[in-house]
Amino acid sequence: SYAQLEQWDKQYVWHPFTQMKQYVNERPLIIERGKGSYLYDVNGRRYLDGYASLWVNVHGHNDPELNAALSEQLEKIAHSTLLGSANVPSILLAKRLLEYWPHMSKVFYSDTGAAAVEIALKIAYQYWKNLDPVRYATKNKFVSLKEAYHGDTVGAVSVGGMETFHRIFAPLLFERIEVPAPYVYRMEEYGSEQDVVRHCLNELERVLASQHEHIAAVIVEPLVQGAAGIIVHPRGFLKGVEALCRQYGTLLICDEVAVGFGRTGTMFACEQEEVAPDLVCLGKGITGGYLPLAATLVTEKVYAAFLGNVEEDKTFYHGHTYTGNQLSCSVALKNIELIETRGLLDDVQRKARRLAGWLERLYDIPIVGDIRQKGLMCGIEIVKNRRTKEVFPRAAMLEHRIILEARRRGLVIRPLGPVLTFIPVLAMSEAEMEEAVRILYDSIVCLYEQARAEFG
Ligand code: LLP
Repeated sequence: SYAQLEQWDKQYVWHPFTQMKQYVNERPLIIERGKGSYLYDVNGRRYLDGYASLWVNVHGHNDPELNAALSEQLEKIAHSTLLGSANVPSILLAKRLLEYWPHMSKVFYSDTGAAAVEIALKIAYQYWKNLDPVRYATKNKFVSLKEAYHGDTVGAVSVGGMETFHRIFAPLLFERIEVPAPYVYRMEEYGSEQDVVRHCLNELERVLASQHEHIAAVIVEPLVQGAAGIIVHPRGFLKGVEALCRQYGTLLICDEVAVGFGRTGTMFACEQEEVAPDLVCLGKGITGGYLPLAATLVTEKVYAAFLGNVEEDKTFYHGHTYTGNQLSCSVALKNIELIETRGLLDDVQRKARRLAGWLERLYDIPIVGDIRQKGLMCGIEIVKNRRTKEVFPRAAMLEHRIILEARRRGLVIRPLGPVLTFIPVLAMSEAEMEEAVRILYDSIVCLYEQARAEFG
């Protein structure tokens, strides 16, 4: 029963990214099943999945074709190791992924976005050492954006820039050089969108010009910084970053974990600016939201630096137990096939345009400060004062209360600081999406009224 599960959940489970002291005072959402765009809890109530089960779900829950692909693989084998041996779905998937990245040549598998990032960082670092350990002895540092988020393992946290998540771990981390990100809404003192981009690129250039001999790689989330609050980079920023990396001889790592697999309207975000990174990290939507899988793709230039006789020690000594897992790879293969045969990318672009119109209405509510969207990735920044852009005190937990209100009304979403994020199942229908925005609207209005009573 719900009551029993609730008690055991609170007694035994430590939830990620969750202040448990707060959590135990609330009624937990306990999901039992899913179908299409809906999640169903153990009491039979249904919710529109407005976070795509943490930005992973592509075709909807319980998709018959994905289920079939998975059962078919299960009849053969669930898992065998990729360390020193191969398996069928991981070979086919690598080939398939590289068709989307014609300038790249190898796929290194792992099982979570953070691991794909760790792997990219370690490869980038070792690349220079393998080329020439003397000449590149100090090429050890990484550059990343303000408010960057690349996952929660220690290496990924090292290149992270989110105060709240990362500050406490500072003594454990390796050195990172931070450069500004084009967060247009909060950088109006720099002028227009393009002025903001120019400022950020100038700062990156200043860093690269003076320190490129010490910089192994620049890592960015292409087009959208997700966890930072859906910060949408204006056109030209990513291309500019790429140009500077080339000019100053440093590797470029694009972390497509959140934006990949159609989320921003193209299969991958890099396509939109015709950017060709040296390393790419993939995860989340790769399996359509079914199973954990991630991958790090590299160019031939990077890969070739790791070839040598055994005693040269150019080998990449890294690997996880479940690397290349057959169940994950087979469902990923089917996911990609369905994205193509169902014409999902065209749908996403069409729905993104409709969604933009519906979201615009949220500006009716005075506490909506900014609405940002790229494809089906949206952030609504809640402010106490539209003119000063001041946010509500953290302790008021206003955004949290908005999402609880939305849940009561049948929509699950998550806040990131003062930003409400709406990242629906990619295949969510227009009617469902319109309904989700209506719930969002009503929920914000509801808390706006409460906030007026509390804060005046
Ligand atoms: N890179 C990017 C760009 C990501 O957005 C993520 C996860 C990762 C890497 C790490 O992938 P993972 O190891 O989790 O598979 N904590 C926030 C949401 C973060 C979204 C997850 N992004 C929240 O509380 O909603």
